[in-house]
Amino acid sequence: MEVDETPLATGELDRIAQSINRPVVLVGMMGVGKTSVGRKLAAALHLPFVDSDDEIESAAQMTIPEIFELHGEAYFRDGERRVIARLIGKGAQSDRKVIATGGGAFCNAETRALILEKAISVWLDSDMDTLIERVARKDNRPLLKQGNVRETLIRLREERASAYAQAQHHVISGSGPHGRTVSRIVKAIQSCL
Ligand code: S3P
Repeated sequence: MEVDETPLATGELDRIAQSINRPVVLVGMMGVGKTSVGRKLAAALHLPFVDSDDEIESAAQMTIPEIFELHGEAYFRDGERRVIARLIGKGAQSDRKVIATGGGAFCNAETRALILEKAISVWLDSDMDTLIERVARKDNRPLLKQGNVRETLIRLREERASAYAQAQHHVISGSGPHGRTVSRIVKAIQSCL
């Protein structure tokens, strides 16, 4: 499908923002830009922004690498599910916000069901080279600590693609400016309002 890259006028953006009546949840691979794009999207829509990884860390009073090391991935996923459920709330008008989730959140069946039922879900997707370049900027991802980063990312993307594909919207987050991705997300959401 041809993507309309025309920038949105402020009035149009405000009108779309007002008709969003649920939380907007960004899902997708590590390094795709969920946090930076999410922050910009929230600013454009005048909505609060939260990052579920940050919320997990402050609830646990531990960093994500510490949680993985001390308690393992299953424990992390359970905490992630509870935190995302709290952030989404009832999925009502008063729960409107933009939520960036960790890369594995939407692959947990319960977390995915909750997001699909109560939020507007957006799968942010990038080509592998963009993901690899972006994950190199941070050193805090336990799943990338062992083995070759490219191979791990390729495997995870393959394993996760069928879950991500269940999101309501699929938006490409290219290597260009995040503002372009924000416009694409807003237009995708608008098409379903
Ligand atoms: C994970 C992604 C991370 C974080 C944790 C596990 C994953 O978040 O939740 O390290 O399973 O893909 P980002 O996607 O924000 O890097």
